[in-house]
Amino acid sequence: MDNTFYIETWGCQMNDLDSQRISGQLKLRGYRRVEQPSDASLLLLNTCSIREKSEHKVFTRLGQLRTEKGRGARIGVCGCVAQQQGEAILKRAPYVDFVIGPGSIGYLDEALEGRSRVVVGFPDDRHYDFLSLDRPSATRAQITVMEGCNKNCTFCIVPTTRGREVSRTFESILAETRHAVETGHVEIELLGQTVNAYRSLVDGRNFADLLEAVARTEGVKRVRFMTSHPSEVSSRLIDVMRDQLTVSRFLHLPVQSGSSSVLRRMKRLYTRERYIEIIETIRREIPGMQFSTDVIVGFPGETDDDFEQTLSLMSLVRFGSLFAFKYSPRPGTPALKLGAPVPDVVASNRLARLFALQETIQQETLMSYTGKTVEVMHEGFSRNDPSVLTGRTDDNWTVNYSGDPSTPPGTILPVRIDEARHYTLRGEATN
Ligand code: 5AD
Repeated sequence: MDNTFYIETWGCQMNDLDSQRISGQLKLRGYRRVEQPSDASLLLLNTCSIREKSEHKVFTRLGQLRTEKGRGARIGVCGCVAQQQGEAILKRAPYVDFVIGPGSIGYLDEALEGRSRVVVGFPDDRHYDFLSLDRPSATRAQITVMEGCNKNCTFCIVPTTRGREVSRTFESILAETRHAVETGHVEIELLGQTVNAYRSLVDGRNFADLLEAVARTEGVKRVRFMTSHPSEVSSRLIDVMRDQLTVSRFLHLPVQSGSSSVLRRMKRLYTRERYIEIIETIRREIPGMQFSTDVIVGFPGETDDDFEQTLSLMSLVRFGSLFAFKYSPRPGTPALKLGAPVPDVVASNRLARLFALQETIQQETLMSYTGKTVEVMHEGFSRNDPSVLTGRTDDNWTVNYSGDPSTPPGTILPVRIDEARHYTLRGEATN
């Protein structure tokens, strides 16, 4: 069997990027990527452990893939479950060949060549080879600026699975940006678990400095960044977002709850009032800014009144999109000691009410674009209908539109919006 690999990726953008790194490393070693597990000599699961459900899925999926071992394929578990469970994965699923954590991707050979079956931890000399990244998009490059998180929110497992904050050097990020642009990636997405906590160890330059430098790099047409923590939104960052026109008019800013008392117990480091103030300041400085957020319902001790405050915050801020989850207890996190869980039926009911409210807000938001002409970065063709072009607006809505199919990807062009669909807009290029 020649060397082929299959990789499945769950979870956040950091995991997507880790898969691009793993895939690039494997291609350098002569492996070819395949889309069917049955065609692969190496099967990899890049896993997520942010909630219990995502962790369970790993073992279910491993059980299904196990049959591939019969023909001599190897199976590796990567990602956050790998970091968190290490050896325990081999105990529970002994047919797994190796386990490699997100801090150890530079040590892939250890696992591939069978020197060790469990490679986890966060070595100080983590290699990072951006030249071998296997980027799936022709126009967008995701670039990691920092890894890990020091915030220690009481519900969150990330400090365990991704370690403490480590920022890359300013220069290496700019070098990667220039290289991305040279290869046609005119949209840069800066990634970090707490991206705006970036700080260069060498000279103390912060995320606002970095964003400004990336936004000014020649050839860069758009810059996005994920995920920001509200306590790290400085006025200088807002100034850079306002003044650099290549910075996207879109911000993902997880609020988690609309109740200050819940926020305090989550250890989020801001109040409801402060969060609203940040949004209002940004909207005042940058008209037309769109926001999305994350919410957890059913955090231990969340009362009906706390939840009503979350609903009222949703109505006040009017997020364009929302990612909401029922609280899931995670091993070793401080929230486990914060008292009785909210009964599941109550949490489910709250989640449903939250989604129903968001549905209305989102439809109204999308409807407000109809009849307007927006700037769309052309990305390619719609997956469902190859005669339709697809791209995204500066404020991050996907637009499917009719236009010239020979438009080069990465071109920004005007599109008149005719229709609001469920999550997307539909229109016609007017250039
Ligand atoms: N339970 C439920 N949701 C969680 N998140 C993080 N930890 C948990 C947990 N223990 C959510 C948060 C975070 C998003 C990525 O996942 O909303 O912003």
